[in-house]
Amino acid sequence: MRLDKLLADAGAGSRSQVKEYIRRGRITVNGQICKKPEQKVSEEDDLVCLDGRAVEYVRYRYYMLHKPQGVITATEDSKEKTVLDLLKGVNTDHISPVGRLDKDTEGLLLLTNDGELAHRLLSPRRHVDKCYLVRTQKPLSAADLRTLEEGVDIGDEKPTLPARAWLNEEGDLLITIQEGRYHQVKRMLQAVDNQVHYLKRLSFGSLSLPEDLKAGEFRPLTAEEQESLRNDVAG
Ligand code: URA
Repeated sequence: MRLDKLLADAGAGSRSQVKEYIRRGRITVNGQICKKPEQKVSEEDDLVCLDGRAVEYVRYRYYMLHKPQGVITATEDSKEKTVLDLLKGVNTDHISPVGRLDKDTEGLLLLTNDGELAHRLLSPRRHVDKCYLVRTQKPLSAADLRTLEEGVDIGDEKPTLPARAWLNEEGDLLITIQEGRYHQVKRMLQAVDNQVHYLKRLSFGSLSLPEDLKAGEFRPLTAEEQESLRNDVAG
């Protein structure tokens, strides 16, 4: 593959950044400075270094983003800012969001070029938990919580699957659902005659939104987090 592609895929930077590294002579291939981005290299047989440090080719890349409100879950758009625009300095070739959050929803969003894992995580058969913090228009009663937990008619063919719903100390709703239907949480609240005023996704499968990851920030998943996600959908 091309040298610039290998570097970008390895997370060394975006395509334009790695071209700049190459131009500045910061890249060596088997010990020789290489100034040609189009140089063919083998990810198995060639030793590629950036500033003297070996660069490892990685096929699949995984990022967690704290999606802010006002950004759309898409890979490109002519008018709106997308979640991919927030992955600054990252090679976003073939990277897509796993599922979607509404424009006015914030919180944890996984992005990856691992289509197989994404497909499994989104499969309705796998029942991957997603937990949301919800501020509602009016307080929820114990009966509302029970209804949300048992499953509600949101106008689809089938009612929603059983969920877990409880209130935190501030009276905000925490709800864990196993599906990812269109506007699901908002429609579930409408079904109990309420409205969502603010929605934040706190977790997706075994992944939780870290408290120190601010809205708009992202980071690569650790090897352990990747493994846990694979376990979420194993079998
Ligand atoms: N449910 C919704 O209604 N919106 C989201 O963004 C996510 C879940």
